[in-house]
Amino acid sequence: MHLWGAKAVTNVRLETALPADNAAARRAVYEGVVFQLEPTPATQRLVADVLALLEAELGAGGPIREAQFRFSAEELFARVGRMRKRLYTEPRFHAALGDVLASAGFDRRVNAFDPLRLRVVAHEGHTNPKAAPVYYAHRDTWYANPQCQITWWIALHDVAPEETFVFFPEFLRRPVENDSARFDYEEWVRGGWGRKIGWQDPNAGRELLYPGLRGGLTDPGEPLSFSARAGELLLFAGAHLHQTRPNVSGRTRFSLDFRTAHLGDDAAGLGAPNVDNRSRGAAVRDYVHP
Ligand SMILES: [Fe+2]
Repeated sequence: MHLWGAKAVTNVRLETALPADNAAARRAVYEGVVFQLEPTPATQRLVADVLALLEAELGAGGPIREAQFRFSAEELFARVGRMRKRLYTEPRFHAALGDVLASAGFDRRVNAFDPLRLRVVAHEGHTNPKAAPVYYAHRDTWYANPQCQITWWIALHDVAPEETFVFFPEFLRRPVENDSARFDYEEWVRGGWGRKIGWQDPNAGRELLYPGLRGGLTDPGEPLSFSARAGELLLFAGAHLHQTRPNVSGRTRFSLDFRTAHLGDDAAGLGAPNVDNRSRGAAVRDYVHP
């Protein structure tokens, strides 16, 4: 593991062991701790399943991480879209997600989840205007997620720090100028779920509102970055300001993520501080509930 900048920031740090008590673990996440956890049998099974899917869709003629150089953009979008739909909707992947929750001590009976999403960060993808929203600094909560939302991120292969994303830890408690006020959940899902998850419309990045930072960070502080091995799991508050790094590694980066909300915490108004989230609606309504 490699990280830098963690020392400067109170309460926001990277830790490698979750408190055994789940309420304490959730509280630590809300306070800004980023947990990077060793692979477990549950994450390893999920990674193996998803890699098999990737191999079947993208493996013809060479390594999956170089498929972007073998397929046309349209073909790649169609193939990735098929996988995204399966991962998001199929009961077997919901069950696999439940196993990951359990392996981290989270009780499936009191946590709702927004299912698995496959992330595909192409080599030089940041130069494609259609993909621009992927690289916005943002908080996941700006998408009408509750303040208690926890993001779970799983590496599908080993990744160097340049192939992942960074946190701006100082901004968990500091507002930034952003356009989350324009985000209305009802409007977001009106066009169907394909838009939300990204399996239908290759032009969505240009046309839809993806909340992001406006004007850039004048004083970003010390970003927190990380590398990861396949099957490692990151857990962090959806309220953290974070940003995908431009990938110029020569290969595509694939990863998985999903979101959870503890329903008791949501009802009690517990969660990370809200310093600047003005999105409207409640995405948790459409999470998969216990
Ligand atoms: Fe995010």
